[in-house]
Amino acid sequence: MDKIIISGGNRLKGSVKISGAKNSALPIMAATLLTRGSSVIKNIPNLKDVTTMSYLLVALGANIIISGDEITIKCDKIKRSFIHHDLVRKMRASVCLLGPLLARFGKVEISHPGGCVIGPRPIDLHLKGLEKLGAQIEMKHGYIIAKSEDGLRGNEIYLGGPLGSTVLGTANVMMAATLARGETIIEGAACEPEIADLAAFLNAMGAKIIGAGTHILRIEGVEELGGAEHTIIPDRIEAGTYLIAVAISGGDTLLKGARHEHLTAVIDRLEEAGVKIERAPDGLKVKRKNELKAVNVIALPYPGFPTDMQAQMMSLMSIAKGTSIVADMVYPDRFIHVGELLRMGANIVRQGPRATIIGVEKLGGAQVTASDLRASAALILAGLAADGETEVSRVYHLDRGYEKIEEKLSSLGAKIKRVTDKPSGKKKK
Ligand code: EPZ
Repeated sequence: MDKIIISGGNRLKGSVKISGAKNSALPIMAATLLTRGSSVIKNIPNLKDVTTMSYLLVALGANIIISGDEITIKCDKIKRSFIHHDLVRKMRASVCLLGPLLARFGKVEISHPGGCVIGPRPIDLHLKGLEKLGAQIEMKHGYIIAKSEDGLRGNEIYLGGPLGSTVLGTANVMMAATLARGETIIEGAACEPEIADLAAFLNAMGAKIIGAGTHILRIEGVEELGGAEHTIIPDRIEAGTYLIAVAISGGDTLLKGARHEHLTAVIDRLEEAGVKIERAPDGLKVKRKNELKAVNVIALPYPGFPTDMQAQMMSLMSIAKGTSIVADMVYPDRFIHVGELLRMGANIVRQGPRATIIGVEKLGGAQVTASDLRASAALILAGLAADGETEVSRVYHLDRGYEKIEEKLSSLGAKIKRVTDKPSGKKKK
């Protein structure tokens, strides 16, 4: 298995291009199942999750052509609507095939995704929304079987849950409602930019969705949708991760393509911590010269601070002057990275959904293990600022969500490399 080795201490300089958003690309690829027409999706990131989604669509019968960062998908010969547990386990986002398959074919059988390392991840809201559209749903042997023999019907649906709105739940119900009879109103919808991007793609296919990017969506069902062309938005979480890479290492960098309007909560916290961020004609300029100050952060649904940036922010706060509190109200158990940051000399105490971080002068390089995608990134960021060498193992998660991270960071001047981990008998200190 690969590991990433970082020698900390280098400042980052230059420019880096932000790739297309993984969390837009995945539901948009799933949405191509809603039509027999051919769709062209541009600015697709080269990531393992995108490969898994392509593989899944091909397994269902789709025809896919990939050329650089452009993907053409045609779903005119879909032969099955069954998704095996192995695929769902590999990539939880495969749950967003549920809505489109149900709407177009009237039946879908998909493994229940269950929980994962960032905590329990129920899909009750997805199912509630689809039931409100008239689907009959049953659970059998870990599989969800959803049917809509008489077709789906528009309805008023409240989709908020105990922890706020649901991103993929909103995506599923919105996709299904595009082909339902009559009007659907989704209240408590997720307003993440990835949902607005999906709605833009669906509208280009002929759907009638208004309100995307707000908590209320109105969807007028149509008879059928056609193929469309669409360019995926830049990945705000990748951009946020590079903002913190520069903040933690010091330096001066241009993030090409990064959008200020998608990152306001992250930028607000970073500016408060002493990082300079400016709009540039083609992205964002980030600079950090002075000492970092501790700031408090609460991860909330958009437009709040993203849970997908919580771990990276904690790495930054580990070396900030003062004491900060980082809380996660979206995934209250998403704190496995705390133990690994402690190995690097951070001073963090976790209590339930929040951690108190007392900034230390310096982190020290150590052998650490990545637990999930964003925790992997957080450990790499910590390694950039640490004294000596940091070895991050189990980095396969990284390839699910960060395109060529070690190449991009190297191009900015970081000392980082990927090596294939051979069993050496060397134990963790
Ligand atoms: C999406 O997951 C993202 N994944 C996640 O990114 C991200 O962390 C998350 O949204 C929150 O922003 C993709 O877009 C592919 P949710 P999703 O449903 O949609 C609870 C990454 O690293 N909930 O918005 O699955 C849930 O437990 C990944 O790129 C219910 O209670 O997340 C959580 O507490 C990881 N019932 C909260 O809502 C439900 O039916 C938000 O989850 C659904 C969710």
